[in-house]
This record gives sequence, structure tokens and C-alpha cells, in this order.
Amino acid sequence: MALARLGQICLDCEDPASLAAFWARLLGAEAVPVNDDVVVVGNKGTPVAAVRVPGYQPPTWPDGAMPKQLHLDLSVSDLDAAEAEAIRLGARRAGEQPHPGRWRVMLDPAGHPFCLCDWSQPLPRLVRETLQVDGAGWLAIAAENEQGEAGVGTVMQMWEAIESRRNVRVFADRPIPAADLDQVLEAGRRSPSSQTWQPWDFILVTDRGQLRELAKVWRGAGHVAGSAATIVVIGPAVDNEFRRAQFDLGQATMAMTLAAAGLGIGSCHAGVADMQLARDLLGFPGDRDWAFLISLGYPAGRPLAPIRNPDRRPFGEVVHRGRW
Ligand SMILES: Cc1cc2nc3c(=O)[nH]c(=O)nc-3n(C[C@H](O)[C@H](O)[C@H](O)COP(=O)(O)O)c2cc1C
Repeated sequence: MALARLGQICLDCEDPASLAAFWARLLGAEAVPVNDDVVVVGNKGTPVAAVRVPGYQPPTWPDGAMPKQLHLDLSVSDLDAAEAEAIRLGARRAGEQPHPGRWRVMLDPAGHPFCLCDWSQPLPRLVRETLQVDGAGWLAIAAENEQGEAGVGTVMQMWEAIESRRNVRVFADRPIPAADLDQVLEAGRRSPSSQTWQPWDFILVTDRGQLRELAKVWRGAGHVAGSAATIVVIGPAVDNEFRRAQFDLGQATMAMTLAAAGLGIGSCHAGVADMQLARDLLGFPGDRDWAFLISLGYPAGRPLAPIRNPDRRPFGEVVHRGRW
């Protein structure tokens, strides 16, 4: 029995939209943008994904300075077994493993990267329909940043984001792409609120000096200093008649932390004790005097991955059915 089937072929490039358009035409298939950095071309055989790599240099074939640049995603049913078998056959495990619960980055005997992927969960509907992949199957696409590390632009299913989100307080010294920060902010902007009041404003801070100063607004805000970016959620001085502002701002916060988790970005809340310092640093107007910080960054150590047993009250204790 075969160990794996070929899932998709990822092609590094500068401009995913135009590369995908070419392949879509060539294969008579449709190009589906996954995000700004990844466009998948579905065909009935093996899909092709065009993946943006900043500073991409085309390969010089058959010889020259630049080696060939593509990797294969192989769908397997058991990650551990497949990894062990691949190693037995001569592969190596790569040092960087952005989502080991979802896929394993391996190096073939010649050093070409390939991923062993667990696609056992349902695909996002749009991608599933376009790729015409059979009902079961999860497509995970890693764009690569300028250091060649996978994980930026990762497409994560909502449930995986919910299971993976945790408060991260130590961040890698690595910027978050502007488009991903905007996507996180957009998740906040789209949040529901009482009577669609939208009592929030968001201030995005990315300057290192400003982040270090912002970290001083509360003794529990130290993690802000080392974040790649921090979103300051600003609320009104006066609540509405239903006192829903805190609820609404909490929803916007959660939407943003989940959106961040979906992109492989860690986050951590922090309160603000010294509101005057926050006001001096950020310049928000006098009719706003509620602020909360969400620091963001790629986790310095262990990447986000589903947490099987979170430190939470038991389900049966929290959930009441019918009545208390
Ligand atoms: C309203 C609120 C305020 C919080 N304030 C802070 C804070 O000031 N500093 C901090 O490091 N974490 C803060 N946290 C993070 C909590 O400590 C964290 O959510 C909790 O420990 C659960 O962490 P986990 O999701 O990683 O299990 C806050 C969380 C919430 C929801």
C-alpha cells in the first residue's frame, strides 16, 4: 500500500495572483485566492499553489546560482507513522516545525523540503469545491517569509484556531506582514455589538520605542515591549444605557485574537492602569478613557498548536442544560 498520495505542489514566486492565473489557464482550472500571499489552482489531479516569497529569485536551470524552489505536500493518514517511515526511507525532519500537529516538514535525501500533511479534517468549503477534493481533507498552505520559515500566512480552520489560541507573552523577533495585521484588525471591525453601536477604536502600534513605553502602562503589560505589534482597543468614557460596552469590546478582542491564531500569530491581553501615560503615548480623545492592549507576535518557542487539555473548568461544570 502506498504511504502517501501527492496533495499539492507549492510554487514559490513574487506575485501569486499572476503565477496562479498562468497555471489556471494552462490547466483549464480556477484560481482561488486563499489570502494575499497564496493562490491555489484547483485541477482534478494535483492542485498547484502559488506562494509569495519576498525577494524571490527565479531558479536557474539546469545550473547556475539558484537551486530549484518548490516543495511537495503529501497527504498521509498518520503523521507519526508517516514521519517514521519517511525517515526510514532516508528523509530528515527539518529543524523548524510550525504546526507539527497538522504537518511535518521533512527534507528528502537531497535536501528538498516536503510536508507530510494530516488532511483528515474538512476543507474550507470554497477551497474544497474548487479543488474537487473528496469530502474529507484539510488543505493547509504555508506561505514562506523572507527567512524561508513556514508559518506566515498559514490557513487554519476556525476550530483549530480556537483550540490553538493561548496567551503568548514571549515573541520571536520577526515582523508580522502588514496584510496579516490588517486582517486581524478587520476581524475586530466586523464584530457584533449591542445595537451595532461599535464602541471601539483600534490603535495599531509597531514602533519598538513606542511599544517599550506602552509596556509601562501596567505591571502586567511587560510582554508588549517585545511584541511585533500591539493593538490598543479604545473604548468610550460613558457606557450606553444597557452597559454593554465591555461586552462589545471583549467580543472584538476575542475576534482579533482568534483571527491572529488562525494566522499562526500569538497574542496576549494587558490591562491599562496608568491611563494618563496611555493617553500621552497614543493621543486618544477625552471622551475615550477605556483602553486595553493586545500584544501580537509569532511565539518565540513552541508555535501555536491545538491544546488538547486546556487549563479550564470542566465542561460539565460550566455548561448547564435547560436550567442551572
Ligand atoms: C480581561 C483580561 C485581562 C487580562 N489582563 C492581562 C494582563 O494585564 N497581563 C497579562 O499578561 N495577561 C492578561 N490576561 C491574560 C490572562 O491571564 C489569560 O487569558 C489567562 O491566563 C488564560 O491564559 P491561556 O489562554 O494561555 O490559558 C488577561 C485576560 C483577560 C481576558
